This record gives sequence, structure tokens and C-alpha cells, in this order.
Amino acid sequence: MGVFILEKLVITGKTPLHGEVTISGAKNAAVAIIPATILINGVCTIENLPNISDVKLYCNILEKLGVKITWNSEHEVTIDSRNISSSTAPMDITRKFRASYYLIGALLGRCKHAEVGLPGGCNLGSRPIDQHIKSFESLGASVEVNKGKIVAKADSLKGNSIYLDVVSVGATINAMLASVLAEGVTIIDNAAKEPHIVDVANFLNTMGADIRGAGTDIIKVNGVKELKGNATYSVVPDQIEAGTFMLAAVASRGDIVVKNCITKHLESITAKIIEIGGNVDANGDHLRVWCDKRTSKANIKTLPYPGFPTDLQPQMGVVLSLSEGTSIINESIWESRFQYTDELIKMGANITANGKSAIFQGVEELYGSPVYATDLRAGAALIIAGIAANGKTEIYNLTHIDRGYENIEEKFKKLGAQIERVQE
Ligand code: EPZ
Repeated sequence: MGVFILEKLVITGKTPLHGEVTISGAKNAAVAIIPATILINGVCTIENLPNISDVKLYCNILEKLGVKITWNSEHEVTIDSRNISSSTAPMDITRKFRASYYLIGALLGRCKHAEVGLPGGCNLGSRPIDQHIKSFESLGASVEVNKGKIVAKADSLKGNSIYLDVVSVGATINAMLASVLAEGVTIIDNAAKEPHIVDVANFLNTMGADIRGAGTDIIKVNGVKELKGNATYSVVPDQIEAGTFMLAAVASRGDIVVKNCITKHLESITAKIIEIGGNVDANGDHLRVWCDKRTSKANIKTLPYPGFPTDLQPQMGVVLSLSEGTSIINESIWESRFQYTDELIKMGANITANGKSAIFQGVEELYGSPVYATDLRAGAALIIAGIAANGKTEIYNLTHIDRGYENIEEKFKKLGAQIERVQE
């Protein structure tokens, strides 16, 4: 019989966080930039990669396609995509995470053929990819979805106007990837504006692409014949990781400095923290967050950037669970992003979630309990809850958390949290 090792985080709570934390490179930029290297007929180096399992997994996929991966350190990789030998991605790995859909745009752009398993990832409700498919078809590709996989192919790709019916991060990036090497001009209208979209465009431009307007809702891609690479690029700091630590400081009534972040990317979260009675002093690439009293209620609606990010909604939910008064969160991006509320209720929170909205009746205190990370950001929220709560919290199902946060327990430990990873 095999040995089954169960990992859990054990947190002894009610410790206000103090000290400094350094933010890693952005997960959602990294998982787009790595497949984007497929478009380069050359070599490039990527710095400031987060040391997380999604990045490792993506590099494994690329190796299986004939790409040469050389790790220079745990945060820096050199990628040589000159000899790509396959445009069929390994289904067993691509099924494991959502961002594998970027392989379709990148392989289609480079090889004019892509065969990729339907993407998996966090269970946040229905996650359609119709806008991705529409973008590929606008460029002249035929796309078939059959037996759990997507096959996209084209004799040649031609620039076109693409209007996205919903503001989608993934479809915007995939449309950029597929059009960089297409003939002529592509206009992506109603594009998403998240910082990682700008980062992917900056990366591609550094490698030889001609993309303008990323960060606005109209992106213009002038097709080029080849991306030569031969350059080094550093991944943008993770806006969501920074926001997670900011909210942890508020929930624990601590005082921390968040280093290596772009404070401009954190304006929506900064504004909410100040609205509920916390304090933020932003200084370009770092900020101080502190809170010395019980926070007050607030209403939140998640929106595409620059609105309040859905990926910080569960962490904010912890803060509002502890805030005075009744708060409402409306989740406008994902159908099932309130699964974490069942776990917070086990810790004493008073939350009524119904579909895409939830009512938080603030309680004075949370108490420790065994809880289950239902997805990546839910896991981050439970860590914050455990640090703020009275007593011992045990968090199970850590694979979700490890997919997207580098050294999370070490970073929290340095801020004074009593948190241990324990194997059973
Ligand atoms: C990205 O997912 C992120 N993932 C998500 O982060 C994040 O929650 C989300 O953007 C929103 O910010 C990565 O970057 C890898 P979308 P993505 O396409 O691209 C609908 C995390 O925790 N839609 O912007 O898949 C969709 O159903 C993860 O780090 C369509 O209808 O999200 C949703 O309601 C979780 N058709 C909305 O658009 C499509 O073809 C936004 O989704 C595509 C999307």
C-alpha cells in the first residue's frame, strides 16, 4: 500500500502582522509570458518569475513541445524556442490548469496549428472560451472543440478587427498572441486592461512585436514576420499578491510595508481600505498599510481592471466578516466565487451567500477551525482569516495555494504570523 502524505497549514491566530514583505513576479503575467515565448524564433531570458507550481508546469509543457528550458536561478529562465517540434500539447498536463489556453494562441501564431486539451483550473463556475475561439476565427483559423480538446488551424493568419463581447483577460491575451505574426493589422476592441495584459504586450514588443494601446480598451497589433528574441524581460510585480498582504495587514490590525509593488495597480484596493478605516501610504514601488481599530462596513462590486479585482474578493470578504456593520459583495466576474464563505462560517463568520452576491454581518471575532481551500484565492483568504482568528486554524488542500503564491508561509512568518506547514 502506498503512503499518502497530507499537507496542511497550521496557524495560531490573533497575531498582528509587522515588518516588510517583498512581492514576487505576477503569476497571471508569467503564465502568459511563458507560452508567448513559443512565438519567438530565438532565445530569451525571463527574470522575476514567481517560484510557483503553475510556472514549473508550464515550462514542462514547453519542454514537451521541443522548447529548451534552462533555469538560471529559481526566478530566472532562458528559453530557446528555435526548434519547436510539436504543436500538440500534452493533454494530461494542460487539463490541470486554466492558463493552458494561451498555448492555443501561441502555437497557432507560430505553427498555424494547435491541439490543446480543454483547460482546467480553479472551479469558479462556468468558464467559457467562446471569445478566444471567436478571435482565432476572425484571424482566419478554423477551430474545432471535440472530445475534450481544441484543434485550431489555418493556412495563414490575417489581421482583422476583433470586438470582444465580454471584457476577458484570457481572450485579450490570446488575441494578441495569435495576431503578433499575422499578416496586416489586428484591432482588439473592448480589450481587458489588467496590468498583466500590458506586461505581456511589453514582453512581446521587447522580443520584436509591434503592439500598441495595451492598457486601454483598444489594442492595435501590427503583424511582424518574426520575433527574434535575444532579449531579457522582467515580469511585473504581482498585484494580487500585494493586495493579499495589504488585506492581511488590515484584518490582523497590523502595520506592514509591502515592497516591490506598483502602487498604481493597487488603487482600487487602497481606496477600499481607506474607506473602511485602514491606512495606506503609497510610495511608487512600495507602500505601508496599517490598521489600529475595527474596520467598518463597505459594499464591493468586482469588476475588470481598474475596478476592484475578483481575485481579491475572498480576501476582502475576510476583512468585511470582521468589520462593524453589514457589508455586501457583488461578484460580477465568476459564478461560484463564494465557496470560501462556507469555510469562514465554520470560523464564526456571519455570511449569507446567494449566487453572485453575499451579505456579511460583521462579527467581533473569528475563531480557529479546520477548513478547506476550495480554490487559490479562497486559500489565501483562509490564511488571512487564520491569522486574524482566535485559536488554531488548519487549512487543507494546499495545492491550490501553491499554484499561485510563492513561499506563502515563509512570507507570513517573516511578518510575525505563527504559521507552519505540517505533513501528516
Ligand atoms: C483571468 O482568468 C485570471 N486567470 C483569473 O485569475 C481572474 O480571476 C480573471 O482573469 C479575471 O480577472 C489568469 O490570468 C490565468 P476572463 P480568465 O476571461 O482570463 C467571461 C486567479 O485566481 N468569459 O477575464 O479565464 C468569463 O466567464 C485566477 O488567479 C466569457 O464569457 O478570465 C468571466 O465571467 C482565477 N467568454 C469573464 O468573462 C470567454 O471566452 C472574465 O473572464 C472568456 C471569458
